[in-house]
Amino acid sequence: MKIIKTKNYEEMSRKAANIFFAQVVAKPDSVLGLATGSSVLGLYENLIKHYKNGDVDFSDIKTINLDEYAGLGKESDQSYRYYMDNNLFNHVNVKKENTNLPNGLAKDMKVECKRYNDIIENFGGADIQLLGLGLNGHIGFNEPSDVFPKETHLVDLEESTIKANSRFFENEKDVPRQAVTMGIQNIMQAKQIVLCVCGKQKAKILKAVLFGDVTPNVPGSILQLHNNLIVAADEDALSEI
Ligand code: GLP
Repeated sequence: MKIIKTKNYEEMSRKAANIFFAQVVAKPDSVLGLATGSSVLGLYENLIKHYKNGDVDFSDIKTINLDEYAGLGKESDQSYRYYMDNNLFNHVNVKKENTNLPNGLAKDMKVECKRYNDIIENFGGADIQLLGLGLNGHIGFNEPSDVFPKETHLVDLEESTIKANSRFFENEKDVPRQAVTMGIQNIMQAKQIVLCVCGKQKAKILKAVLFGDVTPNVPGSILQLHNNLIVAADEDALSEI
């Protein structure tokens, strides 16, 4: 594990973006595993800057996102498809048909989970996977549980996750109660993982994730077993370590 300690969010975003930038330059047909949330927004802004400067080409890039809310489609400004289109895809030359997210509006979620899992399997996992960290230690939407779910699955969101994510919604009751998420095996299949964490409120859980027991009660703790993990985190998030 490699830890990049930064002064603040801006520095974290820049440094983590540089890792993705280098990946795309070195392997222009990479499979990028992408994430949503506020921790990774600055990274996308930096990638867009590199693109606008003419320094990086996404035309052969393929993407697979971690997760999507059940019940939300691309028209909903809270869906992860909307987030990705508006915060990255619409601003670079990635081909939309090469971007993959679970379909939150699928009629049969079992079929949808299998479809998405097959996409990941066919790629052989991501070349590089971006992750944020939930306050309860979740990665993607793999919530604390008794087991590590392996494949893409439908998950009931924890009350704490619903509360944490309600800041993006008008009303807490608008937050979907379920989501489709990559499983732990799908995530761990990535050749490299970049975990972005910032803020004091994540300090305790980040310590548990990186140095506590490896347990499905802290889903992110599985990352300790990955042999190419980079953690980009600010001083506040690393303050317990
Ligand atoms: C959501 C996403 C996660 C993300 C987490 C942290 O729950 N499903 O993939 O890591 O939020 O978000 P933030 O970076 O906004 O704290």
